[in-house]
Amino acid sequence: MRRRYEGKVAFITGAARGQGRAEAVRFAEEGAAIIAVDACAEFASTTYPSATTEDLTETVRLVEAAGGEIVASKVDTRDFEALSATLAAGIEQFGRLDVVVANAGICSAALSWQITGEQWHEMIDVNITGAFHTAKAAVPFLIEQGEGGAVVFTSSVAGLKGYPFMAHYVASKHAITGLAKSMANELGAHSIRVNTVHPAGVATDMRITELGPLLEEYATTLAPIFMNTLPIDAADVSDIASVIAWLCSDEAAKITGAQIPVDLGNLNR
Ligand SMILES: NC(=O)c1ccc[n+]([C@@H]2O[C@H](COP(=O)([O-])OP(=O)(O)OC[C@H]3O[C@@H](n4cnc5c(N)ncnc54)[C@H](O)[C@@H]3O)[C@@H](O)[C@H]2O)c1
Repeated sequence: MRRRYEGKVAFITGAARGQGRAEAVRFAEEGAAIIAVDACAEFASTTYPSATTEDLTETVRLVEAAGGEIVASKVDTRDFEALSATLAAGIEQFGRLDVVVANAGICSAALSWQITGEQWHEMIDVNITGAFHTAKAAVPFLIEQGEGGAVVFTSSVAGLKGYPFMAHYVASKHAITGLAKSMANELGAHSIRVNTVHPAGVATDMRITELGPLLEEYATTLAPIFMNTLPIDAADVSDIASVIAWLCSDEAAKITGAQIPVDLGNLNR
């Protein structure tokens, strides 16, 4: 494994499990110290099991087993004050900040006109406001440090395409794509790069069981929108982590304001 992040520090949200955990481990394997947060809490509108504090503890174990240093905290990205204070404490401990991965997110499914107020508001609060808070808390440190930096938002193929059965998720993932494009323009003068990553399905615990009946009902009309070009249903978390580790590295030093697909060819269909 190359060590592209020796002496560097990465701030990762939603790091208790799934992609966030894989990213924490990957950056640690490459030498970075990790500032990890996760809500480790139930969400009112999701139907899959939530991450737990034990999951976050397991991330700590895996990062340390990879030889990395980590501070991990149970923080909800919707709480800007707590998120900001946690990041500041992590930077105080590790001495700097280089990489920000706004990964935390939730998903639920319903036909657009049947999305409840609760589903809509929780999606917007977590997937847009939480991601905005992550960048808002981190960017002043990067500017002050004066050495550039890399911010990545985990969007989705749903951030570039009109997926059925999850219009609130699609709206949230399009919103962070727009947020990232605007931030990239503003932060270019500081050599801070801002990009979005767009996975299709990824094999994690974010399993949307309520999608099944809708896919069956609309099997010949809307379900094909979910099909990939490569003969694979879902990417592994390591596939996303390795693209983000590349995107934040000097190998991608000339890429900003870009939407990077890790989509099994889904967007090409
Ligand atoms: N799994 C997929 O198929 C897929 C596809 C495309 C994009 N994504 C996106 O990838 C990201 C990671 O998802 P995953 O697949 O690893 O799912 P996951 O549910 O396993 O992980 C998401 C993590 O984020 C945490 N989280 C959620 N809201 C939070 C908040 N407000 N504050 C702090 N932590 C919070 C959760 O507790 C969980 O640990 C999400 O943004 C998701 O929308 C997932």
